Amino acid sequence: MRKILIVAAIATAVALGCLNTEVVSAQNKNAAKAAKMAKPKSLFSRLGGKKAITAVVDEFVNNCATDTRINKFFMDTAKDKKRLGKFKNNLVNQICQASGGPCKYTGKDMKTAHKGMGISGADFDALVEDLVKALDKFNVGATEKGELLGALGPMKSDIVEK
Ligand code: HEM
Repeated sequence: MRKILIVAAIATAVALGCLNTEVVSAQNKNAAKAAKMAKPKSLFSRLGGKKAITAVVDEFVNNCATDTRINKFFMDTAKDKKRLGKFKNNLVNQICQASGGPCKYTGKDMKTAHKGMGISGADFDALVEDLVKALDKFNVGATEKGELLGALGPMKSDIVEK
């Protein structure tokens, strides 16, 4: 009888141990899920990653090149395929990096890049409009649009010269 009781006690302890392991494992799974849910997605991933950013930049540069308010600035760039490709690539990497993506912008700083171009506040606003048009074409949400424009806005004082 004593032997039976000891065996039963051991069996119960083992069963409870297993049960406890399962509970802990379920708790860990839930904690991981909660952590994942709580972690906000980067603007980069909400924009749709590098592919989506590239599509927006293509459209944006196209808008600038056909916008009679500012296309004089982009005449030489648009005529030279290699230069145009490099310009677009710089823009993609700049937006990718600024939105928390895994890219590295290796172009000039904004002051150096636009030095001597004589860009006005109205030119800057026209370009922002062309960017918004491109973002709208790809149905980028209002939050993401606001965040991206918020990241680019502070560059205005380095770009505008008059
Ligand atoms: C937030 C606004 C702007 C951003 C983020 C921006 C970004 C850039 C970048 C990344 C470059 C390339 C720099 C390099 O070559 O290393 C560039 C060049 C240039 N930007 Fe801007 N820019 C802005 C506003 C403007 C405006 C308002 C204009 C004119 C209306 C303009 C005209 C140009 C031109 C003509 C170039 C030279 C393109 C070439 O390499 O041929 N940009 N910009």
